[in-house]
Amino acid sequence: MSQFEELTPVLELPPIAALSSMLGELAARCEAAARCLQAVETGTFTHPDGRTDPLEDVRLTPNQIALLAHLASVCPTELSIDVGFGMGSSATTILSARRSVGKPFEHRVYDPWGLPNQRGKVVESFLAQEFGDRFVRGGTRPSPPAVPGF
Ligand SMILES: C[S@@+](CC[C@H](N)C(=O)[O-])C[C@H]1O[C@@H](n2cnc3c(N)ncnc32)[C@H](O)[C@@H]1O
Repeated sequence: MSQFEELTPVLELPPIAALSSMLGELAARCEAAARCLQAVETGTFTHPDGRTDPLEDVRLTPNQIALLAHLASVCPTELSIDVGFGMGSSATTILSARRSVGKPFEHRVYDPWGLPNQRGKVVESFLAQEFGDRFVRGGTRPSPPAVPGF
């Protein structure tokens, strides 16, 4: 064993087929995970009230959210932090996986400006409704003021 390995635990990742299968199981028992998987597969997130949010170019892949779900499920701390809410696929996956573990958790997301045209807001309202105070979106800021002449 190297000196590095003695100091730092090695993160063993299951093969992608196993991660994908675990994501399928999570989606089968968790509505939020199912909505997120459907969103990345189709390109559109659908809220239970019928509103939709187009992912467009901010679209994770099923394999990426499968990996995130696994990492979130083994997260050793109560607090997890996500930098870049975007279309909320990572936040939805992390919250779903963390809740399924059954231990106390809080997931905070920081994205001061968000995406243009209010994209991501439908997903954000779903997460607030679904996860309550387990989901915290850090301070948002208005777009910087336009500078005359630029
Ligand atoms: C590729 S998206 C992130 C994808 C997102 N995790 C998802 O699941 O859809 C990038 C996001 O990061 C945000 N961002 C860029 N720079 C940032 C920064 N310095 N701090 C926080 N968010 C940032 C952007 O506003 C954008 O919404």
